[in-house]
Amino acid sequence: MPEKKSNPDEQLQQEFNRWAEAGEGEKMRNHHLDITEKTLRHMDLRPGERVLDLGCGSGWATRMLARLVADGPEGFGQVVGVDISDEMIRQARADSKDFENVMYVWGSATQIPWEENFFDKVLSVESFYYYPDQDRALAELFRVMAPKGRMFILINLYKDNPYSLQWVDKLKVPVHVRSAQEYADLLRKHSFEKVEYVQIPDDTPTPDDYVTKSFHSLADLKAFKKTGALLLMASKPDFRNPAPGYTVY
Ligand SMILES: C[S@@+](CC[C@H](N)C(=O)[O-])C[C@H]1O[C@@H](n2cnc3c(N)ncnc32)[C@H](O)[C@@H]1O
Repeated sequence: MPEKKSNPDEQLQQEFNRWAEAGEGEKMRNHHLDITEKTLRHMDLRPGERVLDLGCGSGWATRMLARLVADGPEGFGQVVGVDISDEMIRQARADSKDFENVMYVWGSATQIPWEENFFDKVLSVESFYYYPDQDRALAELFRVMAPKGRMFILINLYKDNPYSLQWVDKLKVPVHVRSAQEYADLLRKHSFEKVEYVQIPDDTPTPDDYVTKSFHSLADLKAFKKTGALLLMASKPDFRNPAPGYTVY
């Protein structure tokens, strides 16, 4: 019998299960921590907020979010991590047993397994360019975000950082390569407002004896970190606002 061809989500699941089994989930923490901490400063998280971590991997950033929104005068916040790799989800759950306000759900960005109008904030670290159908993922993000909710998409692979393009041929799954401006246009097309972007350099030192397989040279790796990741920020409009002249009772 001919082998059944897997669909794009199944390919991503298989590939990132391999990453998880090879221990890449926790290693990514080292690579993404500096730029994620800088992103958290933009997020202005408050106790009581509901946050989605889309493409959460092994959950290290999800747990950072959980600490920031936990118990406080404004309530008890909760964080949901979603990932296409069931193996990443298993690792994330195993490492989050001490957290009362974290839940991990196996699912795809193109069909986010959650109700509409729920999340005050969304974080997605180094995941968005893998989504085969980015339009559908944005429609899903729009659906699950609360009115006035704000999302923060952080990616290292984009046109304006030419050094990052060295990875494209090395990756075993297809990726999107767009510019910051193209992403901003895409977000506006999906009715997001207050669309902004910034570049976030990675200030961690690179040891002179560091061995890189992802870049042609150490100089390229350093230049990649200096150019920085792209942080896209956008809000869901507050459709509950009445039109001028109308009062909502
Ligand atoms: C490079 S890893 C980053 C993981 C984590 N955010 C971190 O920084 O350590 C990309 C993650 O996105 C997840 N992912 C890729 N495509 C996805 C999709 N369509 N839906 C949900 N998650 C996806 C992968 O399984 C993987 O865990």
